[in-house]
Amino acid sequence: GVTREYWLSIENTTLAPDGYERYTLTFNGTIPGPAIIADWGDNLIIHVVNNLQHNGTSIHWHGLRQLGSSEYDGVPGVTQCPIAPGGTMTYRFRATQYGSTWYHSHFSLQYADGLFGPLILNGPATANYDEDLGLLFLSDWSHTSAFSLWDSARAAGPPSLDGGLVNGTNTYNCSASVDPNCVGGGKKFETVFVPGKRYRIRLINVAIEGHFQFSIDGHNLTVIANDLVPIVPYETNSIVIGEGQRYDLIVEANAEPGDYWLRSGWQAACAANQNADDMTGIIRYDASSTVDPVTTSDITITSNCADEPLSNLVPHLAMNVGNFSEVTQETLSFVFESYFMWTINSSSLYMNWSDPTTLRVVNNQSTFPTEYNVVSVEQTNPSDEWTVYVIKDESGIGLSHPIHLHGHDFWVIGQAEGAFDLATSELNLVNPPRRDVASLPANGYLAIAFKKDNPGAWIMHCHIAWHASEGLGLQFVESPSQITMALADKEAFEDTCVKWDAY
Ligand code: C2O
Repeated sequence: GVTREYWLSIENTTLAPDGYERYTLTFNGTIPGPAIIADWGDNLIIHVVNNLQHNGTSIHWHGLRQLGSSEYDGVPGVTQCPIAPGGTMTYRFRATQYGSTWYHSHFSLQYADGLFGPLILNGPATANYDEDLGLLFLSDWSHTSAFSLWDSARAAGPPSLDGGLVNGTNTYNCSASVDPNCVGGGKKFETVFVPGKRYRIRLINVAIEGHFQFSIDGHNLTVIANDLVPIVPYETNSIVIGEGQRYDLIVEANAEPGDYWLRSGWQAACAANQNADDMTGIIRYDASSTVDPVTTSDITITSNCADEPLSNLVPHLAMNVGNFSEVTQETLSFVFESYFMWTINSSSLYMNWSDPTTLRVVNNQSTFPTEYNVVSVEQTNPSDEWTVYVIKDESGIGLSHPIHLHGHDFWVIGQAEGAFDLATSELNLVNPPRRDVASLPANGYLAIAFKKDNPGAWIMHCHIAWHASEGLGLQFVESPSQITMALADKEAFEDTCVKWDAY
């Protein structure tokens, strides 16, 4: 592998992605940010400059295992101090996996205001396609900043948003608006197909809370990967995608030449407050065409916000779950004391921002604030030892939760509605789906397994942005005595925390 270097500047920028001008947060001025591209095995050096005036930040490389580099996972309060305004942090890690993912701010709700971008890691050329269209971002979108909605969100539940973006663009209808910020001029995402060619689309859901069902009128989708894991390909006419999830799709330009809608249907059952029904883009067979498609959809939007059926998501490289000695069961619940707080195992993962320097690098390793909902994972037998973890939704809220784990792909060994019972609930240990975000069904359970092979501090959280900020998470501290950190890294970390002291 070679070393690839990138520079990201975090700025607040006025943009009108859908024709409504607002304060946004951007990487190098655009939404999405610039593509970071590397080959499997490469080393990445990414310099992040915080050009915000009043807020800290930190950047997470979603789904990357950070083998031996836990300190670059980018979670403020868990693996680093936030980068102070005016500060810089250089992230260094290796691309030990390949496929489609994203980088995003992991500081509060910042990614919902625009801080997300493509991270593409090229692997062996096994998929059969002619052209790579790169990441296709699906996001919900509000005309005020997510931060400004935060107080009401945690006091009264999720606020109504204004619409959605497909790859950072859409058309909001300003014709009836007297709002001076409604400037118009948004456009639909468009791409051109050449008849007979096969296109790779790296679909990703980066919404605050939107759950989508993606389809392209008149075309089938061949699914070749979930998250960073290649799967045995399957064909479908639509795909359900939860927050933080990715699916790599091959689409063949085999329809009658014309203009076709590409649709990200809202799954109303888990984002009932959405009023957008036009989260669409356009596929054209003739680049000079400017008309709206007249195609219709023949898919039915499902309403349970479940993941794609587990039986479809068969990893290409078969791996079974190995030895584990116990099954840890934890309960997801929530409390309301003037604010919503979600809990797992009766506690919330809530950062102590009155002292953001609680995380310090001391004596060769990080310290992990113990009040931050810590679960210990200790490797005692280095050859083949696993953790099995079952999260049960007993909140009674009736929502599914996209559960994301850092530092590991996990094996999805159980996922169902209803109560979990160790004696009778079936766990699939034989080449189950592997990925880094899976849905915990409403009033049900999600059972995951992962190998204890990556010493570090790894947060696990719901990828609905409101819920993560309402404490729905915990951190696994895995084999802390084996965490290693290069001297240069330690100095970089001390530096970040010292800047906070000075700030
Ligand atoms: Cu996509 Cu904890 O993040």
